[in-house]
Amino acid sequence: MASCRVCRGELREFLDLGQQPVSDAFLEPDELDNEFFFHLQVAICGSCTMVQLVEEVPRERMFHNAYPYLSSGSAGMREHFERTARQFLATELTGPDPFIVELGCNDGVMLRTIGEADVKHLGVEPSGGVASLARAQGLRVRTAFFEESTAAEILDDEQAADVIYGANTICHIPYLGSVLRGVDTLLKPGGVFVFEDPCFGDIVAQTSFDQIYDEHFYFFTATSVRALAHRFGFELVGVERLPVHGGEIRYSLARKGERTPAPAVAELLSEEESRALGEVATCRAFADDVQHIREDLVDMVRDLRDRGRTVVGYGATAKSATVTNFCGIGPDLVPFICDSTPAKQGKLAPGSHIPVRPPEAFAESRPDYALLFAWNHAGEITAKERDFRDGGGRWIKYVPQVYVD
Ligand code: SAM
Ligand code: TMP
Ligand code: ZN
Repeated sequence: MASCRVCRGELREFLDLGQQPVSDAFLEPDELDNEFFFHLQVAICGSCTMVQLVEEVPRERMFHNAYPYLSSGSAGMREHFERTARQFLATELTGPDPFIVELGCNDGVMLRTIGEADVKHLGVEPSGGVASLARAQGLRVRTAFFEESTAAEILDDEQAADVIYGANTICHIPYLGSVLRGVDTLLKPGGVFVFEDPCFGDIVAQTSFDQIYDEHFYFFTATSVRALAHRFGFELVGVERLPVHGGEIRYSLARKGERTPAPAVAELLSEEESRALGEVATCRAFADDVQHIREDLVDMVRDLRDRGRTVVGYGATAKSATVTNFCGIGPDLVPFICDSTPAKQGKLAPGSHIPVRPPEAFAESRPDYALLFAWNHAGEITAKERDFRDGGGRWIKYVPQVYVD
C-alpha cells in the first residue's frame, strides 16, 4: 500500500490515467524507441487529505537543460506576473534590505519587474536552458533544485529572505518536507512563503483531468495546505483565487503566531468542507466524470474524421499529453498540433507522437476544427486566430464538458 509523501498516511487511489510519458519530453523521430513511460494514478491521503500522484518520475527526467516550457509564452501570464511583482514591491519588499527568492523562476517572467526596481532577488531554477534566458536579462539565478540543502547554501551566500515565492512549482515537488524545512531555514522571522498552483476544487468542478500529469505531483486544497503548514511550524495566513491556468489558489504561509490569518482562509476551508473535497467518495465521483469526458471526446473526434472533417490540435501543452494518451488520440485523428514554443516545433508530442508545428501551419492548413488543448489561454488564442472562426472553423473544447464553440 502506497503512503502519503507528506504524512505517511494511507493513500486511497481514485483515478487511473494509464501509462503516460514525460509530458514535456518532445521527441525527435529517432528517439521514439527509448521513450520513458510511467503509471499515472492519483490518490488522496486518508489522514491529511493531500491529493497526490502514486508514482514519482525522477526529477532530472523532467527538469533539465532542454526543458521546453517558457513562462513568457503568453501575454496573459506576462501581465499576471508583472502584477504579482508590483504587489510584492509595494507590500513585502519595503523594508531596509529587501530580498525575494523565487523557486522555479523559469525564463524570469516575474523577476524581471523586481530586477527593474533594483530590489535584491535570486531565482532558483534547475532547468538550465530557461535559467539562462533569465540570466540573459541581467537577473540573478542559481541553477539548482530547491530543497533543504539549497536553502542553507543560499543563506550562507546571501541573506535571509522576506519573501519566498513559487508559481506552478511547489505542486511539482514531491519532497515537500525538504522544501518546507528549507523555507524555514531561509525565511526571515516575519517573512512569508507564497505559492500558487492549480486548485483541486476547480479541477473537480470542471472535470479538468488534464491538469494531472507527471510534473503536477500534488493537487492542493486549503485543507491539505493547512495541514502541511502545521506539520512544519507554519500557518496558512492567506488564500487568494487566481483566474489563471484554469483556476489557481495563491497560498501565503507565515511562521506560527507571526501573522493573523485573513478571513478568506476560514471561508475557503468551510467551502471545501461543505463540498466534501477531502473525501474519497468525492474523488471517485470526479473519476467517473473523467471517463465520460473521454468517451464524449473520442466519439466526437472519430465521428468528425469519419465524416471527412479535419481536426488539428492547438497548444502542445503538458496537459495535452494526458488527454491524447488517455484517450488514445494519435496522428490518425489529429494530424498535428500547432504551438508557438520554438523548442517544441518540428518534434513529436510525447506518447501520441503527433507532430508539433508552428502556428503559421494553422492558417495554412485551413482545418475544419481545432481541438483547444491550451484552453486556459482560450481568450488570447481565439483572439489571435479570429480568421479561423470567421472562415467557418470551429473550436472543440472539453472543459467543463465536450462541446463545439
Ligand atoms: N514559475 C513559472 C510559471 O509559473 O510559469 C514556471 C513554472 S514551470 C511549470 C515549473 C518550473 O519549476 C520549471 O521551470 C522547473 O524547472 C522548476 N522546478 C522544478 N523543480 C524545482 C525545484 N525543486 N526547485 C526550483 N524549481 C523547480
Ligand atoms: P500552458 O497551458 O502550460 O501555459 O502551455 C501553453 C502552451 O500553448 C505553450 O506550449 C505555448 C502554447 N501557446 C500557443 O501556441 N499560442 C498562444 O497564443 C499561447 C498563449 C500559448
Ligand atoms: Zn497525508
